[in-house]
Amino acid sequence: PCRLRRPLHFPRNRIPLHTDNLSFKFRIYHLKLRRNSSRAQHSPLPAMSTTEGKPDADAVEEMAREAAAWCAMHGLVVGDRADPRSGTVPGVGLVHAPISLLPSRLPESFWSQACELAPLFNELVDRVSLDGDFLQDSLSKTRQVDDFTSRLLDIHRKMMDANKKENIRLGLHRSDYMLDSETNSLLQIELNTISVSFPGLCSIVTELHRTLINQYGNLLCLDAKRVPGNEASRQFAKALAKAWDEFNVDSAVVMMIVQPEERNMYDQYWLVKYLRESHGVTTIRKTLSEVEAEGRVLPDGTLVVNDRKVTVVYFRAGYTPNDYPSEAEWSARLLMEQSSAVKCPSISYHLVGTKKIQQELAKPNVLERFLENKEEIAKLRQCFAGLWSLDDEEVVKSAIENPDLFVLKPQREGGGNNIYGLDVREALIRLKKEGGDALSAYILMQRIFPKASLASLVRGGVCHEALTVSELGIYGAYLRNKDKVIINDKCGYLMRTKVSSSDEGGVAAGFAVLDSLYLTDK
Ligand SMILES: Nc1ncnc2c1ncn2[C@@H]1O[C@H](COP(=O)(O)OP(=O)(O)OP(=O)(O)O)[C@@H](O)[C@H]1O
Ligand SMILES: [Mg+2]
Repeated sequence: PCRLRRPLHFPRNRIPLHTDNLSFKFRIYHLKLRRNSSRAQHSPLPAMSTTEGKPDADAVEEMAREAAAWCAMHGLVVGDRADPRSGTVPGVGLVHAPISLLPSRLPESFWSQACELAPLFNELVDRVSLDGDFLQDSLSKTRQVDDFTSRLLDIHRKMMDANKKENIRLGLHRSDYMLDSETNSLLQIELNTISVSFPGLCSIVTELHRTLINQYGNLLCLDAKRVPGNEASRQFAKALAKAWDEFNVDSAVVMMIVQPEERNMYDQYWLVKYLRESHGVTTIRKTLSEVEAEGRVLPDGTLVVNDRKVTVVYFRAGYTPNDYPSEAEWSARLLMEQSSAVKCPSISYHLVGTKKIQQELAKPNVLERFLENKEEIAKLRQCFAGLWSLDDEEVVKSAIENPDLFVLKPQREGGGNNIYGLDVREALIRLKKEGGDALSAYILMQRIFPKASLASLVRGGVCHEALTVSELGIYGAYLRNKDKVIINDKCGYLMRTKVSSSDEGGVAAGFAVLDSLYLTDK
């Protein structure tokens, strides 16, 4: 018998959309929102929300204990903050990864839409990466005020000047989405092209949820078949191995660039394991400063680190200024870029994933510069949220008047950098006062409002119930050698769920938990 209560419904996290003093452009955007939401009223929004109801407290406690033990036994673990050695010494100070006890619901149509977009974004990244002038021009103002972007552009410029061509190009991306409850549409948060996290652990969360559903099936009224399979770790390892294959040098290794301290190392070790066990490829782990100390490029372009030939460099660091505390790290980055090894990502792929480029690609007629197929262009554009540069005075004015409708984003990765709510107003007023190019360090984005629902979150062995929202990331792999596309595919997914009152979404940063999907008809 099913002991579930009826689904619970919550008021939506609504912000009034009608104000009288909006700019023309912004009014159009609101009109579109209103049109779409009135349509949505006829067919109630089937939002991402956690399971259909909830079992009683004792059953939840029992499931949470089972889940935590299962995580420990299946490698769904991260380093424990409480143990200072957990980020540097493998096998020391482990704790189960923060997880949602059960998967979150998503209508299957949105899942199909997100999966279909993955190869289109893969191809787009590749096309944009080949247009060096577009990248340099689009980021030219940003570089005036952002040192980090400026250093990346310097390396990129050097490669352009040397006419360096990357024949073998490997992208391991993740496109993140939220289901906007106002418009009932799947909107892209951003496309990550460097160091996308959790391909290793997310596959195991799916297995955990299927196991729990199978074990507690009667109680939960859920069907494990509705949790889609997730092969992200195997597929990423396969793409890295195929890139390695293209060189045909048996003694060569894949080099993973890592941070000196990494509590998410087990996520990375899952890829190391599959590379070795399924493809016979050895991985070495090096920090940027180790590469500087041990690396050199031979006259024929071969990258050698500690006397080992490296044919694929896979970055799980290097995306934040914190990863470059001295010139040594920058010279390591340049050294690798100058070599003939496949860089995942190359400096161009890295730049394509910046927030400024996301905003430029959302401008009218820009996608058309890179892609021919009109249907594909329309599909990509459909998932773009409102994105604006801060050159646009009317939008800045609207954001000062209605800060809750926007997110202000600097050119940063890794979570915790975005600005929300009243801080948007304060920051914009301050930046305007500073004058000059200060505003160019940021973009403005339409704030997306996913529907909130109750979920049980398990962190550090403690289970608690909270009102949550979810974000779906679809991994994509792209590999080509000159004209030949070897892989262009979606590669599994990452579902992250966070307390609805939290603005940021990072798991490692402590805002969100790992989750999986439960596909529904509507
Ligand atoms: N437009 C938006 N509306 C609502 N929430 C947003 C929006 N943009 C970002 N967020 C929230 O902030 C989080 C971080 O945003 P974003 O991905 O842009 O930053 P990041 O620093 O690149 O993060 P990551 O390390 O995950 O790549 C997202 O996971 C999401 O939860
Ligand atoms: Mg990001």
